[in-house]
Amino acid sequence: MKILLNESELQTGVEKLAQQIADTYRENPLTIVGVMTGSVVLLADTIRKLSMPLRVGVVQAASYEGDRRGDLKINAELMPDISKRAVLLIDDIFDTGHTLEKVVGLMKSFSPSSIRSAVLLKKTGRQEVQYTPDFIAFDIPDEFVVGYGLDFNDEYRNLPYLAALEESDLAKHRN
Ligand code: IMP
Ligand code: MG
Repeated sequence: MKILLNESELQTGVEKLAQQIADTYRENPLTIVGVMTGSVVLLADTIRKLSMPLRVGVVQAASYEGDRRGDLKINAELMPDISKRAVLLIDDIFDTGHTLEKVVGLMKSFSPSSIRSAVLLKKTGRQEVQYTPDFIAFDIPDEFVVGYGLDFNDEYRNLPYLAALEESDLAKHRN
């Protein structure tokens, strides 16, 4: 594995991200909705850096099997009522953009007063949609990355750093 962002680089980026969110919403009430499961670490770190009245919910979106894309499934059953509320979606990575675009569309159907999104990572040159997240902590090259919440087959989410999987790592999962 090749480390792309170490623990302290991640923390610096997340602090800047939280500062931009704080500057945008000030002391106004906010509902943060984490896109599970990849945003779990970013969600936990970000909410502890914010001081406005805050509610937290989750929505589940899953589209990957290993490193291959499957059908997108969205489960909003665990989401709190967001009608007339300012909502900030948090996700791990903006790759093609289809996931976040679809989740934002679903959120809009619940009539929030506003909807924005924040992501830890944006993969360079991969986007296939018009939508762009409002807050982005890091731009990264087009590599499959794990750690800090991001997984390969639900593994590696617990790594405190962000690493790119190499061919030798992927080979271990094939047998
Ligand atoms: P998109 O719909 O292509 O933007 O894909 C977004 C989702 O795919 C993210 O929320 C991640 O869960 C997953 N994903 C995309 N790229 C990676 C990666 O490099 N590592 C782990 N998960 C990824
Ligand atoms: Mg995800």
